[in-house]
Parts: sequence; C-alpha cells; structure tokens
Amino acid sequence: MCLKASSSLLSLTILLGVSSIVSAVNINRALEKYPEFSTMTELFNKTELTPIINKRQTITLLALSNDAIGSISGRPEDELKNILMNHVVLDFYDGLKLKAIKDKSTMLTTLYQSTGLGQQQNGFLKCSKTNGKIFFGSAVKGAPQTAEYITTVFRNPFNLSIVQISMPIVAPGLGDPVKVPPPPPMSSPPAPSPKEAADTPAPGPAEEEGYADSPPGAAPETSPASAPETAPESAPSEDGSPAPAPENAGKKKMAAADEAEPPTSGSNTGLSFGAILVLSFVVIFAGF
Ligand SMILES: *[C@@H]1O[C@H](CO)[C@@H](O)[C@H](O)[C@H]1NC(C)=O
Ligand SMILES: *[C@@H]1O[C@H](CO)[C@@H](O)[C@H](O)[C@H]1NC(C)=O
Repeated sequence: MCLKASSSLLSLTILLGVSSIVSAVNINRALEKYPEFSTMTELFNKTELTPIINKRQTITLLALSNDAIGSISGRPEDELKNILMNHVVLDFYDGLKLKAIKDKSTMLTTLYQSTGLGQQQNGFLKCSKTNGKIFFGSAVKGAPQTAEYITTVFRNPFNLSIVQISMPIVAPGLGDPVKVPPPPPMSSPPAPSPKEAADTPAPGPAEEEGYADSPPGAAPETSPASAPETAPESAPSEDGSPAPAPENAGKKKMAAADEAEPPTSGSNTGLSFGAILVLSFVVIFAGF
C-alpha cells in the first residue's frame, strides 16, 4: 500500500517533469536538428544562457549560421553573452508575422533588456522593411540596420520561433570593453631609456613657462603646441631643475651627453665652458 502510493507519486513526479520539459522553450532541442547553427548553440551553452532562455514562455531566436557567427565568436565571454542576449527577442515572430507588420519599423524587446543592463535602447532591436526585405538592427540611434531576415527555421506557435538572419547584431556600446583611463603622463618619465631622458626635459620648462606667462585658462591648450619650439631655447638655463631628479639622473645625463645632443643638457654647458677654456689656452699658447 505504502509502496504503491510512493511509486504512483514517483510516476506523477516523472510525468510532471517530462511534461514541463516537453512544453517549455528548449533551444537545444529545437536547434539540434540544424547542424548549421551548432556554433550558436555551443556559445549559448558556454555563456550559460541556455537555461535562462529555456525558462522563457515565448521567444524568437535570431539565429546565426556557423559562417555568420564567426565575427563575434572570439569575443570575451561577457561581451559575447551581452551580444547573444540581443539575439533573443521576447515575443513570437515567424516569417508570416514579420511580413505582416504594417509599420515601417517595429521595436523588439530582447533578453538583454530584461537584465536591466540595457541603456540607450541597446536592449531593443529595430525591425524595418526596405524594398520588401526585412532588416534587423540595434534600436540605438544611428545603429546600422543590416542584419537581413533569411528564413524561418523552426516554429512552435506561439512559444518558440527560430529565424535566421544574415549577420550578428552588435549594439553600440554593448560589445565595447570597459574603457580604463590612460595613466597620467607624470608616471612615465622616471624610468626612461637614455635617449628618452634627453627628450623628456623639454616639456618641463615649456610647461612652467606656459603657466608663468599666460593666463591659467589658456595654459593647458597652448603649452603642448608651443613645447617643441620653446624647449631648446629655454632648456640650457633651466635645465638643472626640470630633470626631476631620480638618483640615476646623473648617469643618464652622462649617457645622453655621450650621444652628443649639445643644446639640451646641462653637463654639456660645462663641457663647452671647458672647451672654451682649453681653446683660449691654446690661443694664448699659440700667441706665444
Ligand atoms: C549544449 O548543452 C546541452 C546540455 O548540456 C547539450 O546536450 C548540447 O549537446 C550542447 N550543445 C552544444 C552544441 O554544445
Ligand atoms: C506558450 O506561449 C503562450 C503565449 O505566449 C503562453 O501563454 C504559454 O504559457 C506558453 N507555453 C509554455 C509552455 O511556455
């Protein structure tokens, strides 16, 4: 009796389990008959989107063939995931319904929008018609509308539709890596090679001049432009201060001096004094 009850409970559980599998959206099941879309299925697996998609009641997958998906398949996983979510429309659209759309363009909501990350319309697609052809693109203003409807691959009204499109849809800003601001220029001068050491003193005096001579507002814009011209003239007089004095600056200066760029280096000024001294001695001795 007890055994019988538990076994019927078990079969009920199995039945419920099976029926939920059968009735839910299952993109793996739907796509497994179409090997030309196997890369997209793999990428849904890899980005762990498959179970998220399969939880939905109604979706239209804008499917990319193995050939067409190549340009996005190598992207970093988080970017790829965002892009793929933009190919999952949260409504049912097969070829008939797409062709029946009266408006010139229609907005479609994607799975990406449902994440709450969507900004500036990048979680929406625009479906538009031109010369009897149907195109998809990001709804972000100015985004290209170039992914063309090819055919309806699979339909299970009104829960799952798989529609093939010609190329990936990448919303502006959605596939972009996070921009890290460049390090401030100040951090690089301490460790230059000898050649760079000879070059770097130039911006220092030029900037100081810029701040001293011109109104504060104008300084940042004018200094970069004027730097190359002003630097050689001002360098000899102010040269002691700008070379912002790591301990090895002396060594580097010597190295730079060996490479002989007379006007830019302080030690060269000393050198030319010595030369003048020697020269005058020579002249004096020659005079005798
Ligand atoms: C995706 O994952 C499912 C279930 O884990 C598996 O059955 C299927 O073969 C996978 N598909 C691909 C193309 O890797
Ligand atoms: C299929 O789609 C219809 C209409 O969107 C929805 O009411 C129904 O719950 C869906 N069925 C399943 C099993 O997801």
